[in-house]
Amino acid sequence: AHFIKPSPRLQNQPILVTAGGTRERLDPVRFLANDSSGKMGYALAQVLQQRGAQVTLISAPTKLQPPAQVHLIPVTTTEEMATAVKQQFPHMRALIMAAAVADFRPPQVAAQKIKKQPDQTTWQLPLIKTVDILQMVAHLKQPHQVTIGFAAETSELIEQATAKLRRKHLDLIVANNVAQPGVGFNSDTNQVTFISPHQPPKSTQLLSKTAIAALVIDQLEMLLQS
Ligand code: CTP
Ligand code: CA
Repeated sequence: AHFIKPSPRLQNQPILVTAGGTRERLDPVRFLANDSSGKMGYALAQVLQQRGAQVTLISAPTKLQPPAQVHLIPVTTTEEMATAVKQQFPHMRALIMAAAVADFRPPQVAAQKIKKQPDQTTWQLPLIKTVDILQMVAHLKQPHQVTIGFAAETSELIEQATAKLRRKHLDLIVANNVAQPGVGFNSDTNQVTFISPHQPPKSTQLLSKTAIAALVIDQLEMLLQS
């Protein structure tokens, strides 16, 4: 297929990809999760590997088989993903943050299963904010390093994604309107808009996640060049 083309710019370059949805545990039998399947991140890892990059994939739980020859670092929580990214990022040429990261978590994991009381009709769950991994990376970022984020939006796609691009000091944000059929979470297809600091937004067609991954990596190659 057209996306299998070794790239001189990516040859042996260490590239970090995150994928999947992080999980935040409440007690021994329950956790907070999201709809991420990991497909987009795994497709990115595969395309990068095919183009000759040295891929490290930090993955929250998925049902997927990791691509061969990719260095897989399995994680579960946002905290674990943040620790792994912090450790790996200094050695990397680029980071693509495709993971759907939990924004909030229970303050602590209950040691015992939380029981309902016989007369209980509601349960208020206290949650605290997790670390924003891309915002953390923004402070570690060296001039030769490229960072790419994703933005999942259901309205005001360009405005919201542009704000994230700035807030997280990204070189590129891949915005998807996840309210559209066939787009984003759990789907086999995706339709995205590329937003970068100095160029007008560019939208793709609805394509397979592998084809979208190839377009994202084309963008990465251009960023590595400049
Ligand atoms: N992200 C991250 N750490 C978090 C939350 C998100 O690194 N704690 C990353 C995601 O992996 C993604 C980008 O930030 O690449 C945008 O994620 P998104 O959920 O769309 O944006 P948020 O900044 O979390 O804002 P909100 O969910 O309120 O729209
Ligand atoms: Ca979020």
